[in-house]
Amino acid sequence: MVKALRQNQQLLGTTAPTSGNLALRNILARRALTSKTHLSAEQIVITNGATEALNLALRAVTQPGDTVAVESPTFHGLLQILESLNLRVREVPATAHCGINLFALEQLLRGAERICAVIVIPNLQNPLGSIMPDSHKARLVQLCAEHATVLIEDDTYGDLVDTEQPLSTLKHWDRSDNLIYCASLNKTLAPGMRLGWISAGRWHDRVEMLKHSQSRGVRRCRNWR
Ligand SMILES: Cc1ncc(COP(=O)(O)O)c(C=O)c1O
Repeated sequence: MVKALRQNQQLLGTTAPTSGNLALRNILARRALTSKTHLSAEQIVITNGATEALNLALRAVTQPGDTVAVESPTFHGLLQILESLNLRVREVPATAHCGINLFALEQLLRGAERICAVIVIPNLQNPLGSIMPDSHKARLVQLCAEHATVLIEDDTYGDLVDTEQPLSTLKHWDRSDNLIYCASLNKTLAPGMRLGWISAGRWHDRVEMLKHSQSRGVRRCRNWR
């Protein structure tokens, strides 16, 4: 431990900022432009992987007992997060062709039950591998906005897709600040670093407060201050 502290002397005297390293946030904001996502470093909070980002997003916009819609099938870790937060789940069928079924989602949103949030993985859905076409992304964003249901985007795998035309994010189509964007560097940079990030739009301050109360700032690298 003493050796580690000698090698990382800044750990002795400084605490990590809650939102995470500013240089890293600047890089993430620049990289986001490739998926047509316009963000500034100030709109980003670094997290302990996408897992913490999804936890924070859900905690920011729901209360225990609320209902959240997810794609079916979806990433099992998401179901564990929802269960740990005491949230109810409604499953909406999804296909390997274009992801979540918008007709089924619309029926659900029009129903009597209040759906507080919809969580989707638009690019390389886990486990289906689907990539939503742009028209589907735009309609999904619009549909959630019409029903005042928060859309949570899990873009854990977007960076892995190697296409001539970079994929757009749902965030790109969000005109009414009704979306929380969650991403991970664990699949592209290094799984051991447990780095992810969140851009929560109008819930930014709430997410920053929750992050501070939950785990304070993330510091992962010797030269990051
Ligand atoms: C769709 C999806 N979201 C989130 C995660 C969690 O990502 P992280 O390792 O960055 O916490 C995974 C992990 O495998 C995943 O498949």
